[in-house]
Amino acid sequence: MVAIGTTIRDASADIELIGVTKTYDAKNVVIPPLSVALRPGEFTVILGPSGCGKSTLLQMIAGLERVSGGKILICDREVQDLEPKHRGCAMVFQNYALYPHMTVAENMAYSLKVAGIPKAERNERVAGVAKMLGLSDLLARKPAQLSGGQRQRVAIGRAIIREPGVLLFDEPLSNLDAQLRHDMRVELADLHRRIGATSVFVTHDQVEAMTLADRILILNKGRVEQFDTPKAIYHHPASVFVAKFIGAPPMNILQVTGDGSVLRLPDGQAVANYSGKGSFQLGIRPEDISVNAGGSIKARIRYREDLGSHEILETEIGCQQLRIATPFGVEIDTTSVLSLTFPRGRLHLFDGETGRAIPEAFGTAATTQSMKEYQ
Ligand SMILES: Nc1ncnc2c1ncn2[C@@H]1O[C@H](COP(=O)(O)OP(=O)(O)O)[C@@H](O)[C@H]1O
Ligand SMILES: [Mg+2]
Repeated sequence: MVAIGTTIRDASADIELIGVTKTYDAKNVVIPPLSVALRPGEFTVILGPSGCGKSTLLQMIAGLERVSGGKILICDREVQDLEPKHRGCAMVFQNYALYPHMTVAENMAYSLKVAGIPKAERNERVAGVAKMLGLSDLLARKPAQLSGGQRQRVAIGRAIIREPGVLLFDEPLSNLDAQLRHDMRVELADLHRRIGATSVFVTHDQVEAMTLADRILILNKGRVEQFDTPKAIYHHPASVFVAKFIGAPPMNILQVTGDGSVLRLPDGQAVANYSGKGSFQLGIRPEDISVNAGGSIKARIRYREDLGSHEILETEIGCQQLRIATPFGVEIDTTSVLSLTFPRGRLHLFDGETGRAIPEAFGTAATTQSMKEYQ
């Protein structure tokens, strides 16, 4: 963990994307028109599966990719036609992209040198950033003499030394091992608090998104599925796609049919009262299911995984898979059929065809502003 240093600056930019699109040809629409506003100083995480357009979106903000349509505003200034260096953004890449023949100090000072900043000031700023990132003793080393985590810190140092209003990160932690990823997450969150730049962080890792973001923008094939706080997204996913993407293990999704009073599984079991008719998808998180003798929902256990702090039970219910997380120390007779309760306040209902959430289904106020904004 890096010692807490002083704040470099508090200026930060707001970013607005208005109808931004990216197409490679008529058949290859990577980003259909996308509009979103990021607040000054906000840490936004763009989360989505590989190939959904995260890097493309980030590179359009940075100016490394041209937009096919729409506008990008940084501090109310249109930047979509400006060179990257005139946008006030700095970017950190997954592969670090350090100059191998330069020392740590030279790597960090390079952009300042190009910008014509005098040597004395360059040295002073390198010393300040190195102190903030715990790199002071490594300034004379070349990248090949550093560990992965140290290289990543140099790449971050090189970005923040220019004191940008906008910091862009493209999967910067993906090449690190699990422990280091965790440590770097903590450092990045701490760094963000100190430098205050508006930050956009791309990842496919929902844990990074949940722990780092002020708001998470979930992207599916270039479209915004939901844009909200981690808590809102976890508790009120706007679609089956979001529900399955957030949480480990992910939310269970059961295919059910409504007869106007109850929702039933394909085997006829009633799982919840609901007045709608037709086909629906019912979501419940593994940790929200209670296993108790009085439960009316029956599931057959297939196997159990003991993770120490809790157990994961893989069960089958009406020919569908249902995963249950039980707290450590709860005795469960796994030789017989399990009796379950689905607490009503923990159920999520989605349209059977579109997968969009039906927020008021069980009387909870589950609407989120972003759902209204983006539908
Ligand atoms: N130069 C290109 N020409 C055609 N398609 C591209 C090009 N660059 C990226 N793509 C496509 O754009 C989509 C999004 O890519 P990308 O933004 O890199 O996704 P992500 O970062 O979410 O993994 C992918 O389907 C990819 O194949
Ligand atoms: Mg990418």
